[in-house]
Amino acid sequence: MKIAFFEIKDWEKAYIKQKLKGQKLVFFKDALTADNVSSVKDADVVSVFIYSKINKSLLDKMKKCKAIVTRSTGYDHISLEDCKKRKVQVYNVPQYGQNTVAEHTFALILTLSRKINKAYEKTIRGNFTIEGLEGFDLKGRTIGIVGMGSIGKHVAKIANGFEMNVLAFDAYPNKKFEREFGFKYVPLNELLKKSDVVSLHCPYSEKTHHLINSRNMKLMKKDALLINTARGAIVDTDALVKALAGKKIGGAGLDVLEEENSIKEEAQLLASNFPRKKLENLIENHMLLTFDNVVITPHIAFYSEEALKRILDITIENIKCITDGKKCEAIVK
Ligand SMILES: NC(=O)c1ccc[n+]([C@@H]2O[C@H](COP(=O)([O-])OP(=O)(O)OC[C@H]3O[C@@H](n4cnc5c(N)ncnc54)[C@H](O)[C@@H]3O)[C@@H](O)[C@H]2O)c1
Repeated sequence: MKIAFFEIKDWEKAYIKQKLKGQKLVFFKDALTADNVSSVKDADVVSVFIYSKINKSLLDKMKKCKAIVTRSTGYDHISLEDCKKRKVQVYNVPQYGQNTVAEHTFALILTLSRKINKAYEKTIRGNFTIEGLEGFDLKGRTIGIVGMGSIGKHVAKIANGFEMNVLAFDAYPNKKFEREFGFKYVPLNELLKKSDVVSLHCPYSEKTHHLINSRNMKLMKKDALLINTARGAIVDTDALVKALAGKKIGGAGLDVLEEENSIKEEAQLLASNFPRKKLENLIENHMLLTFDNVVITPHIAFYSEEALKRILDITIENIKCITDGKKCEAIVK
């Protein structure tokens, strides 16, 4: 079969070639557009990322295409209706990095709880004094997880390993998981009042815009940590800066910032046309950087070797569903 990959990087090309031996593979750095579609008019499978807009006019020019395999979680760049009409299957990568984000969450928590950032700054300057570096144990402390979905559940499992108490707030509680893992769902205000670490793992939406704000941040313990690896605008940044300046909370670990709203999904950050300079400027200019009890990472919670490979492995499995005629989960069958 002829399989065409668009928006592909060199390392991905090498990996795919090794895994899909025996197939006719063609690779393009650019997105699939009206300008280059003629090169794949005879392709059986087309794999894209989110900058290739798969619409009726492109599908009309790919008469042999049996399946579109997107290497993203989202699929709003693909006209599902036109794919259905033409009996073109559509596959995506539903999940690839739950444990990866959960591990980064704990990297942020431990950096703050054990003052690793301050210690590192001292020791690289040859200062080995320990004044100001007293931390606190996680054992016996309470973590409040906002959004007990795929990532939240991994955070709960890791927290159990640290012997932390786990509270959760979720718009759609899962009682079975609550029983199995021995944590407790509570209303958001109660979670904020009782938690030593508040960790956000719900999606960003109109409903979760500034879910953590000046009114409810007041409920948090004075030494509590706020960790955000979900989306920046779930937290009202002004309220957070005020709370930190007024020493109303203990610190913050942020992998995401409010101004990053246009990022739909993490893999977008890997695309060669993503304006990373913009993100750099954003972080450089950020007032939050002035606090020594704030740790910011440049949206890398998803960014591990294994998670990146999982995106490709799931894509390859999706392609094998078509080449080997296996029955697999698809968005359009
Ligand atoms: N920083 C990163 O690199 C990175 C990587 C992946 C995902 N994320 C973010 O993490 C978020 C969570 O990912 P996931 O895979 O666990 O998603 P998920 O859909 O599995 O879980 C989300 C949970 O939030 C709950 N929820 C929905 N609306 C809510 C609300 N209004 N209040 C409280 N809870 C609510 C859902 O019921 C669900 O249990 C994603 O939406 C994404 O924004 C960040």
